[in-house]
Amino acid sequence: MWKQEIYQQAIKFAGEKHADQKVPGSTANYLAHLSNVCMEILGAYKVEDSFDVNFAIQLALLHDVMEDTPTTFEEIKEVFGKKVALGVEALTKNEDLPKAEAMKDSLKRINEMEKEVGMVKLADRITNLQEPPTYWRNAKRMSYWQEAGKILDSLSGKHDYLWDRLKDKIEDYAQYIKM
Ligand code: NI
Repeated sequence: MWKQEIYQQAIKFAGEKHADQKVPGSTANYLAHLSNVCMEILGAYKVEDSFDVNFAIQLALLHDVMEDTPTTFEEIKEVFGKKVALGVEALTKNEDLPKAEAMKDSLKRINEMEKEVGMVKLADRITNLQEPPTYWRNAKRMSYWQEAGKILDSLSGKHDYLWDRLKDKIEDYAQYIKM
């Protein structure tokens, strides 16, 4: 069982940081995305529980806080400790790199960390492979889809249930793309 207080602390922090952010293509608050990612982690834990679920919950709820808000590494470290801050940092793309390079670089850094970090990346993309926003053109859908394939290829061995789930989501997403 996970610690409810750990979830509460992380979702409150994230809720304050992402307060003005919406799920792309929706009026839903960004917490909907974060809680979906966390839900995938809890589902995975039910199937196979040989990982640190509290650490994974923290990463799930905080994974976009450095990428999408002005929150710093130091601030996360102060509140949640260095291990969580390093995990969030690995899940944050380096904006100084070109787009294709940034994902490759993040995946490389994720693979150098504990498996929970890779699990959250899988859960994030599973969550994001819902029906795309209507304003996404075919080229964008296609590149997002291909990028998901790269994530799948790089993150095998982290958690089989999540990996299989992302594989299914990728197959399913083909319906939104004109080949
Ligand atoms: Ni995300």
